[in-house]
Amino acid sequence: MADSQELKVAIIGGAGFMGSAHSKSWALAALQTPTDAKPVKAVVVERDLDLALATAEKFGWAEAADDWKAIVDRDDIDIIDVVTPPHMHADIVCYALERGKHVFCEKPIANAREDVERIVTAARAASGVTAIGFNYRHNASIQYAAHLVASGAIGDVIQARFEYHQDDAFSDMGWRRYKARGGSGASSDIGSHILDLAHYLVGDIAEVNASLTTVKLTDDDDSDVDDGGAFLAHFDTGALGIFSFSQKSHGNFAHIRFEIDGTEGGIGFDWNQRDVVRVFRKAADGRSQGGFVATPVAAGAPGVWFGSSSLGSGYLEPSTNLMVDFLGAIEGGDRPQGDLEHGARIQSVVDAVWKSAETRSWVAPEPFGA
Ligand SMILES: NC(=O)c1ccc[n+]([C@@H]2O[C@H](COP(=O)([O-])OP(=O)(O)OC[C@H]3O[C@@H](n4cnc5c(N)ncnc54)[C@H](O)[C@@H]3O)[C@@H](O)[C@H]2O)c1
Repeated sequence: MADSQELKVAIIGGAGFMGSAHSKSWALAALQTPTDAKPVKAVVVERDLDLALATAEKFGWAEAADDWKAIVDRDDIDIIDVVTPPHMHADIVCYALERGKHVFCEKPIANAREDVERIVTAARAASGVTAIGFNYRHNASIQYAAHLVASGAIGDVIQARFEYHQDDAFSDMGWRRYKARGGSGASSDIGSHILDLAHYLVGDIAEVNASLTTVKLTDDDDSDVDDGGAFLAHFDTGALGIFSFSQKSHGNFAHIRFEIDGTEGGIGFDWNQRDVVRVFRKAADGRSQGGFVATPVAAGAPGVWFGSSSLGSGYLEPSTNLMVDFLGAIEGGDRPQGDLEHGARIQSVVDAVWKSAETRSWVAPEPFGA
């Protein structure tokens, strides 16, 4: 067996929701990666030491700490995994990149334009590999759908519709509800996920025309960010995009859906049936074949872990696949599927959505680091 290379990971903000998901995914990535680069769960950093100690115990991190700078300064730490609220991302990411670390940062990359600019500048100057936490594209069915589109199976894309609906905001969403605490609205929190899917499946977006909602259900609801919205988009190819997202959508717990209409066929996906891609391909004589065929993703397809189709896949496989992609990039010196520059590209579209909703007009994304 080849010597494995240990890559020591420090996670910043590891007690939270994504801290839990990443703690499990790093453990799985060590087993799943085909490369010799094996992640080791070295340090969990939290805002206070008791919480960090409890998290280390609960999620299996070797050490606990409460000062992220002191941990980033350590020579023995290779990867910094940032899972704090987004307004903290830029300081941690830039500090880590300047010290030669590999950096995995959760989405959205950052909320403020100047923070995104700082990250892009630091990432371009850095020796470390970076990745952004757009995990859903690493679901095997979505990867298969992307393969179908890229291989021309449905012809040229005419129209693509993307949705992400949740009912989370009917309960307390903590920092997500306030700009000052890192919140940036459903447009950024879940809108960024479907924008990543749209870029992955269809391509870059040239302009958007958006409308956002902020619905107050109670008198004491003091949230200052949007809770949903919709926008039209034109892709660079000329295809039309239709996007809808809401965190006040009763009964939809994590409902990600898309449909892509092509000149030769169509594709549909629903996260709640995530081992299946619906495919329609026009017959050679141009006549309809009677609608979509539900195709379970085949065993052996990229992203499928077990050698039998339809065993089911969940939330951790895509996150783990994303980490495996990142580890492979560290070992091979390549760029992972979604690095921080890609995170900035997605944020430039979120920015355009905000500007469009404010000005009630079509807005083109302004690239970062131009
Ligand atoms: N990719 C996904 O599917 C997905 C899902 C949920 C959240 N996220 C992203 O993950 C990030 C975190 O979201 P979350 O839901 O886990 O939030 P969370 O509030 O559950 O966790 C954030 C953690 O950061 C910690 N923290 C705050 N200040 C700190 C400091 N100075 N030092 C160390 N730790 C500190 C908090 O104590 C908390 O435990 C956000 O960017 C969010 O958008 C991504």
